[in-house]
Amino acid sequence: MEQNYNYKVVKQFAIATVVWGIIGMLVGVIIAAQLAWPALNLDVPWLTFGRLRPLHTNGVIFAFGISGLFATSYYVVQRTCQVRLFSDKLAAFTFWGWQAVILCAVVTLPMGLTRGKEYAELEWPITILIAVVWIAYAIVFFGTLVKRKVKHIYVANWFFGAYILAVTILHVVNGMSMPASLTKSYSMYTGVQDAMIQWWYGHNAVGFILTAGYLGMVYYFIPKQAERPVYSYRLSIVHFWALIFTYMWAGPHHLHYTALPDWTQTLAMVFSLILLAPSWGGMINGIMTLSGAWHKLRTDPILKFMIVSLSFYGIATFEGPMMSIKTVNALSHYTDWTIGHVHGGALGWVGFITMGSIYYLLPRLAGQTKMYSVRLIDVHFWVATIGVVLYIAAMWIAGVMQGLMWLAVNSDGTLTYTFVESVKATFPYYVVRLVGGALYLFGMLIMGYNTWMTLRGRETPVVSIPVLKAA
Ligand code: HEM
Ligand code: HEM
Repeated sequence: MEQNYNYKVVKQFAIATVVWGIIGMLVGVIIAAQLAWPALNLDVPWLTFGRLRPLHTNGVIFAFGISGLFATSYYVVQRTCQVRLFSDKLAAFTFWGWQAVILCAVVTLPMGLTRGKEYAELEWPITILIAVVWIAYAIVFFGTLVKRKVKHIYVANWFFGAYILAVTILHVVNGMSMPASLTKSYSMYTGVQDAMIQWWYGHNAVGFILTAGYLGMVYYFIPKQAERPVYSYRLSIVHFWALIFTYMWAGPHHLHYTALPDWTQTLAMVFSLILLAPSWGGMINGIMTLSGAWHKLRTDPILKFMIVSLSFYGIATFEGPMMSIKTVNALSHYTDWTIGHVHGGALGWVGFITMGSIYYLLPRLAGQTKMYSVRLIDVHFWVATIGVVLYIAAMWIAGVMQGLMWLAVNSDGTLTYTFVESVKATFPYYVVRLVGGALYLFGMLIMGYNTWMTLRGRETPVVSIPVLKAA
């Protein structure tokens, strides 16, 4: 059977994922080096930590992470609905529109133009462009679902759909601001309401972008790569509803011990603890999909990426609820423990599942049977795994140490350590983190080379590829 799918836009986004991954992580390595040796700011305002840090977070989340989600969601929705994307033109607009957003970020963030809201830094004209591109994305995705040829909507699409819908709401509500000039605006909310809205946004960006979106990948690419059905389809549905219901309430755990009403903090803590259950349900469902196919892990590095990503997902979603307990947060907040938690999730979970899924896609998009070098995928896997472990272990130790040093008091009530003593004590861990991050980046460069060689391998049929197997 010959099917017509739009693989062109999938391929464009897949390549963008690899390219932006390299750039975003390179900036991560630079700021990691700056934290160890601040003189690397070179006294150039554009290169200061405060400006490069949001460039890193925007680069890895919006450029690398969301390009990966565009590629996979466009691929999965076509395969599982057995129809071509709703509109090729609109899909092309989402690709070029999204690249324009990223380029605007690359220019404006180092210039110091920012709304000052974490993960929502981009100034109002870019925020509006994001909204326009996102609505086009929603039309393409949901339009494809509407014209599907298969009655059932496969669960991966539920997760992708929830991510697209939630981001629309979060972005519009948190983006509301009053422009003062072309390059400066002020949030429409003030004081504690502003903080509450910001972390409702921030936490749900974790829940719906960095979690739900990638679970969409889990439910399609793991069964495909393992050639096994999802372990429990029923569990996947329970997992979906429990997860999206619970995430929405947990935002104030980012604002413990602040001016936020106490009950909102406690409520967030309780919902964060409840979140452990659906998160682990999803992790177990993904890992158990390998039942009867465990031996494949020995020879298939793509599957290794996918399964190890779920282990890191399990770690991050155990650690997160623990950190949301107010007494634990009293120690962890402001320390590098948070950074360790973030990168356990970001490098181990988001990074690995994206890399696994893109490795699955690339040969298919290049009209080939496998990547240029399977051996190099394996090398990438091991280099990246060592990198993540070094990164998060260093940050965990540094974080707990900082928390304990800051809280230590002498019998007369004075502080045992000055702040600068804790900074000095952290130095070796910053160097270890830098080594871990550099290894992770090196893995990404290997992926870049493998991608280049795979794509060069043969002429790529752009629109029409024979369907090998029903999705
Ligand atoms: C080569 C890999 C990477 C390195 C070396 C790296 C390094 C860093 C550094 C040094 C910071 C600033 C920490 C601080 O302010 O103390 C940071 C922050 C951050 N990075 Fe990365 N990063 C890498 C990859 C990633 C990836 C792939 C993601 C997401 C998918 C990510 C997401 C974040 C986020 C969300 C923050 C802000 C954390 C917070 O505010 O608590 N990073 N990164
Ligand atoms: C059950 C799931 C999770 C819960 C309950 C949770 C909870 C938390 C808590 C309590 C914090 C620290 C807040 C603070 O002290 O400032 C935090 C920070 C963070 N978590 Fe999680 N987490 C979860 C899963 C994840 C996952 C899977 C990721 C994926 C990458 C992630 C990304 C982040 C980021 C980026 C931050 C830093 C936000 C910032 O301050 O800039 N979390 N999380």
